[in-house]
Amino acid sequence: MGLALFASCGGEEKTDGMLEIAVIPKGTTNEYWKALHAGAEAAAQDLGVKILWKGPIKEDDREGQQRVVEDFVSRGVDGMVIVPLDRQALVPPVKEAGARNIPVVVADSDLDWDGKVSYVATDNRRGGELAAAALAELLGGKGKVVMLRHMEGSASTSAREEGFLKKIAESAGIEVISSNQYAGSQFSDAQQSAENLLNSFPKIDGIFCPSEPCVYGMLRALQDSGRLDQVKFVGFDASEKLVPALRKGEIDALVLQNPVRMGELAVRACVDAIRGNPVEKQIDTGVTVVLTADIDKPEVQSLLKPDLSILGQ
Ligand code: BDR
Repeated sequence: MGLALFASCGGEEKTDGMLEIAVIPKGTTNEYWKALHAGAEAAAQDLGVKILWKGPIKEDDREGQQRVVEDFVSRGVDGMVIVPLDRQALVPPVKEAGARNIPVVVADSDLDWDGKVSYVATDNRRGGELAAAALAELLGGKGKVVMLRHMEGSASTSAREEGFLKKIAESAGIEVISSNQYAGSQFSDAQQSAENLLNSFPKIDGIFCPSEPCVYGMLRALQDSGRLDQVKFVGFDASEKLVPALRKGEIDALVLQNPVRMGELAVRACVDAIRGNPVEKQIDTGVTVVLTADIDKPEVQSLLKPDLSILGQ
């Protein structure tokens, strides 16, 4: 991973001494973003800068997120951290930020633009591969599997989905009977998609869902259909709803990211770029598989239940 030196650009230190860093999540509904916000806020307080946190309510609101970026560019923020909800739709407004010398760090989910200061994220392909290895192990290497995708355009989850399919194909005894359905970015959409999938396939042995809303929608559909004990279920992300299901064995494994670390390192990278310090072009924030049996291991507690106290929560 090459180091990229960035001359001080865009944000000079403000007269009040506080740099303004816009931090723009994909959405503000899913719990995952609270953890990223907490990490961003921790870095801001440590560095003596101010973050401006704003995102669309729903993770499929492309126009909404475009407007948020445009507004921050017009405001003339000193730096920007964005989690693009669509890897292409967000390129035009973010390119404009770059054109105005506002350093942009992309976090969590990639953007098809080579002007970013840094990309701070999970190795999502590896996360998908880990999910496939866990599910194959849980199934004893055989069975019928479905994967319910998250949302078209989402780089992070698409990489998980491709990593999963590539790895699961190594298990000759496992047949993927469905992998082309999308849950949608909100839990309610995901539950409906999951119900449709379960109705289409009466015989399913294993399920993979690549994101918090997708997992929760599938969990509810499995609970309502009474099929929880018929499947091995591997998901992604932690939340107050998913972790109890993991403990009960309703979910058999969760692939966990570190959104607190992601938010923290993204803000640090942005401020480093503004201040002319060296910045890594790509920063991997780690990925961990937690099985039901692992749930009380000390090393995974902060991933299962991120500390949100800095947000007053
Ligand atoms: C999900 O969207 C992804 O980009 C995040 O990594 C998380 O898995 C939250 O809805």
